[in-house]
Amino acid sequence: MATDPSRDLRTLLASRHQVLVASGRDEQRLLELVRSVASPLGLAIWTWTVSRGLAVAPAKGGPNEATYGMSGTRDIAQAIAFVSDSKRHGVYVFLDAGPLLDDPVAVRRTKELAHDPVPGRTVMLTGLGSAVPDALAPEAALFRPKPPDVTELTALLDRTVAGLTRSGMAIRLTPTARAALLDSLRGLTLVDSERLIIEHTVADGVLSDSDLPAIRAAKAHLLSADSPLDLIPTEVPLNAVGGLDTLKAWLVERGRAFEPAARRFGLPYPRGVLLTGIPGTGKSLAAKGIATAWGMALVALDTGRMHGSFVGESEQRLVSALDAVEAMAPVVLWIDEIEKAFSGPGDADGGASARVLGVLLRWLQERPDGVFVVATSNNVNALPPELTRRGRFDEVFFVDLPGPAERASVLAAQLASRGWDPRAFDLSAVVAVTDGYSGAELESVIVSGLYSAYAAGRNLTTDTLVREAGETVPLSVLRAEEIAAMRAWAKGRAVRA
Ligand SMILES: Nc1ncnc2c1ncn2[C@@H]1O[C@H](COP(=O)(O)OP(=O)(O)OP(=O)(O)O)[C@@H](O)[C@H]1O
Ligand SMILES: [Mg+2]
Repeated sequence: MATDPSRDLRTLLASRHQVLVASGRDEQRLLELVRSVASPLGLAIWTWTVSRGLAVAPAKGGPNEATYGMSGTRDIAQAIAFVSDSKRHGVYVFLDAGPLLDDPVAVRRTKELAHDPVPGRTVMLTGLGSAVPDALAPEAALFRPKPPDVTELTALLDRTVAGLTRSGMAIRLTPTARAALLDSLRGLTLVDSERLIIEHTVADGVLSDSDLPAIRAAKAHLLSADSPLDLIPTEVPLNAVGGLDTLKAWLVERGRAFEPAARRFGLPYPRGVLLTGIPGTGKSLAAKGIATAWGMALVALDTGRMHGSFVGESEQRLVSALDAVEAMAPVVLWIDEIEKAFSGPGDADGGASARVLGVLLRWLQERPDGVFVVATSNNVNALPPELTRRGRFDEVFFVDLPGPAERASVLAAQLASRGWDPRAFDLSAVVAVTDGYSGAELESVIVSGLYSAYAAGRNLTTDTLVREAGETVPLSVLRAEEIAAMRAWAKGRAVRA
């Protein structure tokens, strides 16, 4: 599951691409990555900054870089010309290469360099965002460093802990907590991870098991800060969902496919489900139950926060969010109301919705093992047909209004979750008067029953529930046509949950 972050770079350096655009903001890590790949290949590493121009980066611990600066190369067009003329092999990392795009001469030279392959020579540009700028396409290729994997995070933790110990901090982590700590750092950058560890140690001088909850919370906060991801606490058990027996049985069966023995048995990893259906029938609730049942982290992708205001920003946000999710595998990714991903501010932004759809569909097709996607939708008409095609999801379920047995099960689950013993009620009497009620409506029957019983100083009884039910007009009556249309859609396209 963990991909070696340097592998992609090695591949790119070996390819005929002379110009790479590197995305991401972790400059330090990028340089380390380049060093780890380039040094064994005997490639020199040069860096360019606007303040210093081109310089050979010294080997780690080597002499001061400044001694190696090339005069006259602070101008980026000059620097590119130098690289182009010298025809020396090496990796030339231009840090914050923004000025290049403002300089037509520099752009032109970069393109010419790209067309004049010199074996072992690569120009890498940073600070140009997360995509190849139009001016450099198609000559440049994109290098997108993956978020750090467990090996890198372990090295970081060891390094940080050693530093903290030297400055007199106490580290008291049990092996289990250490593993849990590493687990909770996945999906973050090295810089953020290091800061989290230090902050939570320095606060009281100790890094111990009791810091874990706060670190997890801080991670959730960091994740949601500039990405559309939210880490959701998993506390809903699958049996809090009433009915949906086919779905639940399917989930229990598929959940087992994450076991190592299933790999040896030749089973592929489960990839995901799409839950469509009538509002208020437990789709979102089931999504939360899956992660709990499988003991995995649950991350929600908020499609509303995905659309940025700049051209290309929506896709970039989505791409880096998906990278973070991959780094957290095994993980359940929940995309609630997925149809909204495709109907953003959209065409005002030159087809952003279409490009976002493209990114998401491609990722759904190619996503790595260990990311299970639960997408929900209550507006099937807004779903692009490509989404429901085979291969994106293992199964498409349709969640209909609960039948009599399912209503009994929903009522029982709802009563139990509020501390009432379902056996104390004649549920069949309530079931008889709630034909066409959704799970959410059954819940509100119980909640209003609780209110009126409490106000009257009485216990909750079957009679109260029956009376409350009589006072609700279910959505299925108000929106009968829409529901009929959804059922018609589901025929042949989805399995009844
Ligand atoms: N099958 C069910 N079992 C138990 N509770 C349910 C069920 N269906 C709905 N509920 C109750 O109704 C609430 C709303 O349901 P939920 O948000 O899961 O519906 P949904 O299908 O996602 O609706 P929407 O399509 O509007 O998003 C739940 O939090 C839960 O309390
Ligand atoms: Mg929902």
